[in-house]
Amino acid sequence: QVMRDVSGISSLEAQVSERLGIDQVIIVNGDSDEDPLIKRELGYATAVWLRQEIRSGDTIAVTGGTTIAMLAEMMPSLAHGMDVQVVPARGGLGENVEYQANTIASRLAAKLGGTNKMLHVPDFVSEDVYQSLLAEPHVRERLAMIQSARIVIHGIGEALKMARRRQLPEETIRLLDSGHAIAEAFGYYFDQTGQIVHVMNTVGLRLGDLKKIERIVGVAGGRSKAHAIVAVAKGCRQDVLVTDEGAARAIIQL
Ligand code: F6P
Repeated sequence: QVMRDVSGISSLEAQVSERLGIDQVIIVNGDSDEDPLIKRELGYATAVWLRQEIRSGDTIAVTGGTTIAMLAEMMPSLAHGMDVQVVPARGGLGENVEYQANTIASRLAAKLGGTNKMLHVPDFVSEDVYQSLLAEPHVRERLAMIQSARIVIHGIGEALKMARRRQLPEETIRLLDSGHAIAEAFGYYFDQTGQIVHVMNTVGLRLGDLKKIERIVGVAGGRSKAHAIVAVAKGCRQDVLVTDEGAARAIIQL
């Protein structure tokens, strides 16, 4: 019985990998839409992956969100601290403190016994303020550090759900709606073909920076995120996807 379950999951992993053109797909049992405990499993599976992948001298960038928060939560504390650095992938994107990239980066660094560098930039700024922030030596130094990450681990969300969670102005929500945005990652909103509909003004990784990063890992589950996962896979390179059975079964049926 157990063996059959295992091979069922691995054939599902192969199908999703083929469908999305993502090298490594890791699927946990269940559907996080139906059972919130499955999100912990996503966090745990990502933690296991990271522990195998991580090496001394690494910089790891993480985004915010409830799923990536589970990575920090489920990562066991390492007995011997590692010489690694954990940084937020981008500055504030309008999440509650608990789910901000800064918070998650510092928790993950503590578990790994590594160091953490925060990025203190405000959430929603005008183009002018954004440009002056970029000119700040402190911000530039942090940005260079973030861009030098070898591994980036990010969440994926549904566009309108994320826009509402971030309390974006109605005007932006209308723009997302009329542009048929369905997915969000890194502050970028994508339509189903992977085209960018809208980008949030915050300091940090830009899509173009991902080219230089060795390992881009998306973590998202729940059948409600199936469309979003497919759109993000089209919009930006993904090397690893950690998802659940609910999302995976929906993806192969799309
Ligand atoms: O706001 C950070 C972020 O990673 C978004 O880019 C993503 O859409 C969202 O969180 C995912 O959140 P959750 O894991 O809570 O669904």
